[in-house]
Amino acid sequence: MLISEPTNNESLDWAQAPLWEKGTVELICQQVIRETADISTFVFQMKEKARFNFKPGQFITLMQELDGEMVYRSYTISSSPSRPYTLNLTIQRVEGGRMSGWLFDHLKPGATIKATGPDGVFNIIDKPATNVLFMSASCGITPVMSMSRWLLDTCTDADIRFIHSARSEADIVYRRELEMLDEQHAFFNHSTVLDDRDGWLNLEKLQQLVPDLHSRTLYICGSPVYIEAVREMAKSAGFNMDNFHHEIFNDAMIKEIADRSEVPEVSGEGFEVALDKSGVVVTVDPNELLVDTLMAQKAPVVAACRAGVCGACKVKIIDGEVESGSQMTLTPQEIEQGYVLSCCSRPRSDLRVDI
Ligand code: FES
Repeated sequence: MLISEPTNNESLDWAQAPLWEKGTVELICQQVIRETADISTFVFQMKEKARFNFKPGQFITLMQELDGEMVYRSYTISSSPSRPYTLNLTIQRVEGGRMSGWLFDHLKPGATIKATGPDGVFNIIDKPATNVLFMSASCGITPVMSMSRWLLDTCTDADIRFIHSARSEADIVYRRELEMLDEQHAFFNHSTVLDDRDGWLNLEKLQQLVPDLHSRTLYICGSPVYIEAVREMAKSAGFNMDNFHHEIFNDAMIKEIADRSEVPEVSGEGFEVALDKSGVVVTVDPNELLVDTLMAQKAPVVAACRAGVCGACKVKIIDGEVESGSQMTLTPQEIEQGYVLSCCSRPRSDLRVDI
């Protein structure tokens, strides 16, 4: 949703461009920056002149038709909303990855792609702190880099300790920027841990690098193996795990969460699902996922992860009950307002959905 009307007048000063905060938009690729051998940053502007607004750490979902099928993939925004005229996605080319392969082969400057969002509760606004420890491995650096850029651009009094792990020096994403931030800001200190130079991070190294570990709030993003290893280190050091925030974006982990998010099947009569905006009413089996009901009616809903992880399929229930396997990305306020993740919700009564 644009909070003021867009305009196609090319002379409009960008400074007056409306803010984009939510919804489906078309992005134009302006630049592709090679970060490492398999990671590049794609720089976008809005096709309808607008500025980007999101919470540092959030993601957006790209939508692209591939071989006649609409494919959705969520990527964390690596830029900061303090620089609202462009939005950056730093993406790793995954072997056999349909979307990442397509992006690297086709998304050149001037090409367009649809996106929806932003979403995600792993962000520095909903989980604020001023004494922070950012930890990342490989492409997991993107959300914590967005948070760092935001905290430094907005001149907060944040004290940032940043530890990034990579295979080798050639694999460090944003290496020069990290070094520059370190030089320019007294309260930004970063270290890199390289597999081929230092070996894997362990508790002893972590405590050497962050002697005041216990006084910090930890935000971590990377592979499940990396996150679990650091979680165990933090626990064994007696770290307050309420201050341990993590982001998952690995297929195996998502599959495991999808299995946990399964809603048990029930037998019984079907229920009526009413789509409030279009007036459509359909009768569905109680075991049908709400997202499938909505998509079958061509309602504007996105099923990106289908695992209750990304939040792209969020809808508001006006009346009725659903059983949900995950509320992972919903805030307490959204739950209070009746939002559910439709990819892991099944009807348990007649429903009225705000869509
Ligand atoms: S599609 Fe990702 S949470 Fe439902």
